[in-house]
Amino acid sequence: MSVSGRIPREFINELLVRVDIVDLIDSHLPLKKTGANYVARCPFHTEKSPSFSVSRNKQMFHCFGCGASGNAISFLMDFNHSDFIEAVEDLAAFVGIDVPRETASASYQAEPKKQDLSQLYSIMEQVTALYVQQLRTSTEGKKAADYLKARSISGDCANDFMLGYAPVQWKELLTRFDQQVLMDCGLLGRSENGEVYGRFRGRLMFPIRDRRGRIVGFGGRVLDDSLPKYLNSPETSLFSKGKEVYGLHELLAKNSKPQRILIVEGYMDVIALAQFGIHHTVAVLGTAASRTHLELLFRFTSELVFCFDGDNAGQTAAWRLMESAFASLKDGKSCRIMTLPAQHDPDSLVREQGVEAFSEQVQTAIPLSDYFFGHFENTLNLSETEGRAQLVSQAKPYLEKLPESIFKEMMLERLKNLSGFTKLDVLENTATLSQKPNQQQRPEQGGRQPLPRLALALLVQNPELIEIIERREIDWACLKFEGVEKFTSILQTILHEKPANTGALLEYYRGHSDEPIIKKLADLPLEIPTSNEAAEFSGAIDKLLAQSIDDHRRWLLKKLETTGLTPQEKEQLQKLFNTK
Ligand code: UTP
Ligand code: MN
Repeated sequence: MSVSGRIPREFINELLVRVDIVDLIDSHLPLKKTGANYVARCPFHTEKSPSFSVSRNKQMFHCFGCGASGNAISFLMDFNHSDFIEAVEDLAAFVGIDVPRETASASYQAEPKKQDLSQLYSIMEQVTALYVQQLRTSTEGKKAADYLKARSISGDCANDFMLGYAPVQWKELLTRFDQQVLMDCGLLGRSENGEVYGRFRGRLMFPIRDRRGRIVGFGGRVLDDSLPKYLNSPETSLFSKGKEVYGLHELLAKNSKPQRILIVEGYMDVIALAQFGIHHTVAVLGTAASRTHLELLFRFTSELVFCFDGDNAGQTAAWRLMESAFASLKDGKSCRIMTLPAQHDPDSLVREQGVEAFSEQVQTAIPLSDYFFGHFENTLNLSETEGRAQLVSQAKPYLEKLPESIFKEMMLERLKNLSGFTKLDVLENTATLSQKPNQQQRPEQGGRQPLPRLALALLVQNPELIEIIERREIDWACLKFEGVEKFTSILQTILHEKPANTGALLEYYRGHSDEPIIKKLADLPLEIPTSNEAAEFSGAIDKLLAQSIDDHRRWLLKKLETTGLTPQEKEQLQKLFNTK
């Protein structure tokens, strides 16, 4: 592993563009929308009313109470008490991408890589269309259509999930697409003797879409009893089963903020439930739900309900979930465990009992806390000191994974009660996020800013305004006012770096001596409506230029009267008279 290499700056920029700080922070502490911003009680100091505000536009957070501010990376560093690298890794995991590392020989190049991926996405799209067409029109595909009919899946439902059929004659693909690209998409494999083969042959096809709707992989089911029943795409540069869940895009298309999300095991469970109008279901793909899966899903809902079989395998799987779940359970997020009756999966259960009975069982699924302690009550003898000691030593490591929260305190309290071991207190109050509240510094409201500061603050808060500067030819050398060096230096940086938002600009200045200035400008309350920002900025630049030109002209005129002008200065003066 090359974890020691530097993280390329291009990657950090890309990461800050991909993430939405509102989603990120909301998954750690629930935000409330007020006007253009999102607010909460500040996690970095104790307070009763919310002063902590998150701006989607700036991709920054700022607390008017304690003055904490920064971008998505800074938030994770402060919130998790982690270092820069850990925060970048956490953020990448949240977005669902890997952190590249620079090696001595090759450096990361964002552009060519992106191009490759878009080619792969496009092929996946075209192949899906081909499979859909096969299902609808070919004689061979009719078998798959009949199979769906036999399982009472309607045409609409098949459409929603873009179900298709991969013909036995897979070589058709080679006549249309490049072999290497098909290989990179995971649609072809290579046998031990080097022979190329089509991965999916004669199967009902389930395209796997990421949350943005791009097709990243496939699952394929046989139409008879042959084995393996399901084949999935291998890990490719588009697809990683530890990160994707099946059905998320389809779910979000129906409801972008579901009250809860149900997590099942199979493709057909998701589809059968959708057929019955239950659209808030996803499946993890032949793997245990990872922390990445959970954090992805918690971005869209506050409650996850996991379906597990009642048998031993199912309950073992449920227990394994505790590993990933505890770390993701921020305040306001919860998990429940739904244990299925023997011999049932969600598909068969909803068919047998109907939607109402099924939904009832989802809603009354066991809270994770009860499931967790119930597990110990079932496996340990808590009437003996030995059993209670085991309870403490087995439960403690899980509870320690919980982020600081009221939930954590209550879980510890419950462990105390159940074990009778009160010295647990040593566990508590170790890491607390709250600091002593600082002097409340309310922003000076509405105060008129000096022109250079107004222009710069507007630009720092809306780096895209740099376009206005780019479109014009500006003679920077003629700008003269106090602090002009700093002004042009920041302006040049923005011109050169083109940060996508304020958060990305802040990243550029991390650790730089100008960082405090940038933060101050970023947090300056301007109270200019979004629609006026460009005009205000343009106006401020115009005024600054006009003032400077005026000053310069006056200075030249005075010199003309006294000592006279050099030919160069004469030319300048001529020019200055022409500009106005
Ligand atoms: P199931 O066998 O329970 O699938 O496997 P299912 O969805 O209920 O299938 P139907 O109802 O018989 O059509 C659950 C999940 O495990 C993975 C698939 O993701 C499947 O949806 N699986 C199963 C495989 O990856 N390969 C297999 O051979 C079987
Ligand atoms: Mn099934």
